[in-house]
Amino acid sequence: MRKKVTKAVFPVAGLGTRFLPATKSVPKEIMTLVDRPLIQYAIDEARAAGIKEFIFVTSRGKGALEDYFDHSPVLEQELRSKNKTELLEILKNTNMDSGAIAYIRQHKALGLGHAVWCARRLIGNEPFAVILPDDVIAAEKPCLQQMVEAYNETGGNMVAAMEVPPERASSYGMLDVADDQGELVKIRGMVEKPKAEDAPSNLAVIGRYILSPNVLRNLNQLKSGSGGEIQLTDAIAAELTQGHDVYGYRFKGQRFDCGSKSGFLQATVSFGLGREELRDDLYAYLQDIMSVDKAAQ
Ligand code: UTP
Repeated sequence: MRKKVTKAVFPVAGLGTRFLPATKSVPKEIMTLVDRPLIQYAIDEARAAGIKEFIFVTSRGKGALEDYFDHSPVLEQELRSKNKTELLEILKNTNMDSGAIAYIRQHKALGLGHAVWCARRLIGNEPFAVILPDDVIAAEKPCLQQMVEAYNETGGNMVAAMEVPPERASSYGMLDVADDQGELVKIRGMVEKPKAEDAPSNLAVIGRYILSPNVLRNLNQLKSGSGGEIQLTDAIAAELTQGHDVYGYRFKGQRFDCGSKSGFLQATVSFGLGREELRDDLYAYLQDIMSVDKAAQ
């Protein structure tokens, strides 16, 4: 019987330099998409996929993240006394059960692979998910849930895959495809941030993974790969050379790169338009500025 995926790692120890100066004092994951911080979208997605243990790899200056998941008795009491039940419900949804959440420190930003490796003792010897909260995915069925369902059939390792134009390959880990089965893609290799002409396919890895604990052993062996950082991609690629399966999963949904300013703005507009109470105003405003812009041309 295959072990269920019940643990997820959230590596949130990066410096977030693309959002300076905001990230000087506000963790990137606390930045707000409409009215919820990025981390809340990630947590909701993990919960929908059946995750029970949430492991955060944090760093200096991320205290606001830890506070965010605490109960806030004064605020809750205030809302209760004013009969604001809807807000109270929203607030309660942000609370985590005691013991469900663990924080571990990455003392130096040595890369995503190193961040995941920092969580090795909390992960133990079982399959685990990795969620990068700055990849926000709008989907009818949450992306990680789609992947867990597929993983329950395949086992091995699985990465979320998305088609990108050749000129974008140098921003992603790219898949070398052995067998394209449509939704599932069996892969024979992965290349981190190749030039357009060196990309083995147009399938890029984005921030959702289901990994076997053996990847942690591979991370142990790695010194540093591309860019001087310890790359998760290299540890997953090592699985292939050891004869273990790695699958790409073409998820259904739209991914926003909220680690970049442009992606964050696009997500804000898209999630804003998705909210009934905001849609009409926002839409009218967008139409308005588009027509002014057109007139100016
Ligand atoms: P990014 O590549 O987006 O880096 O990391 P970053 O530091 O967050 O942002 P920029 O590029 O400086 O603007 C992808 C994910 O990996 C985590 C980040 O927190 C983010 O969730 N990460 C990255 C770590 O936890 N530790 C690291 O050493 C590097």
